[in-house]
Amino acid sequence: MGEKILVCIAWPYAKSATHVGQIVGAYLPGDIFARYQRMAGNEVLMVSGSDAHGTPITVEADQKGISPAEVVEYYHTQILEVWQRLGMSWDLYTVTTTPNHAATTQDIFLKLLEHGYLFQHTQKAPFCPTDNRFLQDRYIRGTCPNCGNPTARGDQCEQCGKLLDPDMLIKPYCTLCGSKTSAIEFRDTEHFFLDLPKLQAALGTWLASETAHWRPNVVAFTNNWIKDGLHARAITRDLEWGVPIPLPGYEDKRIYVWFDAVIGYLSATKEWAQRQGTPEAWRDWWESTPARPRPARHYYFIGKDNIVFHTVIWPAMLIGYGGLTLAYDVPANEFMQMEGRKASTSEGNIIRTPDALDRYGPDALRYYLAAIMPETRDADFTYADLVRRNNDELVATFGNAAHRTLTFVQRHYEAQVPAIGELTPEDQALLTAATDAFTAVGEAIAAVKLREGLTEAMALARAVNKYLDDQAPWKTIKLDRERAGTSLHVVIQALGALRILLAPYIPAAAQHLHELLGFTGSVDREPWAFVAVPVGQALPPPVPLFTKFDPPTEE
Ligand code: MF3
Ligand code: ZN
Repeated sequence: MGEKILVCIAWPYAKSATHVGQIVGAYLPGDIFARYQRMAGNEVLMVSGSDAHGTPITVEADQKGISPAEVVEYYHTQILEVWQRLGMSWDLYTVTTTPNHAATTQDIFLKLLEHGYLFQHTQKAPFCPTDNRFLQDRYIRGTCPNCGNPTARGDQCEQCGKLLDPDMLIKPYCTLCGSKTSAIEFRDTEHFFLDLPKLQAALGTWLASETAHWRPNVVAFTNNWIKDGLHARAITRDLEWGVPIPLPGYEDKRIYVWFDAVIGYLSATKEWAQRQGTPEAWRDWWESTPARPRPARHYYFIGKDNIVFHTVIWPAMLIGYGGLTLAYDVPANEFMQMEGRKASTSEGNIIRTPDALDRYGPDALRYYLAAIMPETRDADFTYADLVRRNNDELVATFGNAAHRTLTFVQRHYEAQVPAIGELTPEDQALLTAATDAFTAVGEAIAAVKLREGLTEAMALARAVNKYLDDQAPWKTIKLDRERAGTSLHVVIQALGALRILLAPYIPAAAQHLHELLGFTGSVDREPWAFVAVPVGQALPPPVPLFTKFDPPTEE
């Protein structure tokens, strides 16, 4: 086995079946990367789970008149179904309501306390006299002090992205009773705080020395956030839903959702190890010792709104705990707009993943999202563009090349890979391109330049199409059957390469092509290398790889 690579993907709130903005931001890039790394011979563990805690869930439960646990179960099931349809290759997808996750969270809490990185502090917290309860940040809205957005949430302004505390809001109001007149009071309550100022120096050293290979926008965002000095952050809340605080006297409070959610990467590794029957195996992924400072490379696939939690807060927690591995890379994506407008659940301007899958299936959706992936700048999703790229690139270029070739071989070469005669420079050039593509695509994916990797792979598909047009074996066969057979053989070799090169991006189509080329088993198990499709290999009757779609009519 090669290197150990831990692929950590953001934990989606168990309050929707996900939307395509989340898929392009974190899940698809993580899956493409993990699939490639496995084929490249590395040992991959890809983990995440549903983020079950936090007020987004309790807000939803209150609205529906059911318990938070019921909300979580309902959406967790939906999310699992989306992963199955989308082809997410999880090693473990769990949820933060497990006893293992609570125990792991409580262990981190107690260790940070013991190491002097947590302190108690009585603060004023927003309290709604109408509802007679403390209000969580999300139950409060008001005007953002940073950008003036009049409906900024108490924890973060969705418009400018600034992290907030409710007392920073101008004219805060309670969203439970909706009353803008009954003023919110600030009453005393005691909470635990993560002493980020104490961790700032160590964090700064790590950031300065370990981030040269990070995306510049992620480094800039992080440095901008820490440059004026970190502030202690409350990590407990007046709530009944969440991980209990493992100390007497705090029964009516819970650990804050963001504190427990990031711990999920560690607790999920532990759960994976337990399920494998090797409960100590998590150490091989996380325990950092002087002899082996980085037992595994940890990659965090997240959207840009989650950057500071993964580049500042979670690393600070890990440093405070001691002896655990910090991120190797945090390739956060920028945002994807929807049909020219900001994707926003609250404004209903989102495309639910199940709806997109119903319309176009996993291959077209994954292909399109990878092709426009917002790695260095924002992107814009439109169904019209998805259909155009599907029809022009998957159907007309790649699919057509495969189908023309396989149908012709089926009819004229007894459904077997034709023998190879003398090679022309054109034949050689295509075979060289197919071989070289493994390096080009592989290096791009390894550097988390996934759009570039796809462009490289599709360049080979275009080269195949052009080669077919130039060589026209359907004409040559009338004069020289062996020459036509050689051309078809060469094309089949390039298709054999494409089934592997595209497997991380469009695994279902790649598996289909794998079978159309006469292979059995799973394409995912193939090594990342050029392997010849043997002469004489029997080819089943071909079926088109992709479906052409009509342009969308609505909008
Ligand atoms: N649930 C959070 C969100 O959807 C993301 C959490 S990522 C975490 O924004 F793993 F850090 F929790
Ligand atoms: Zn109220």
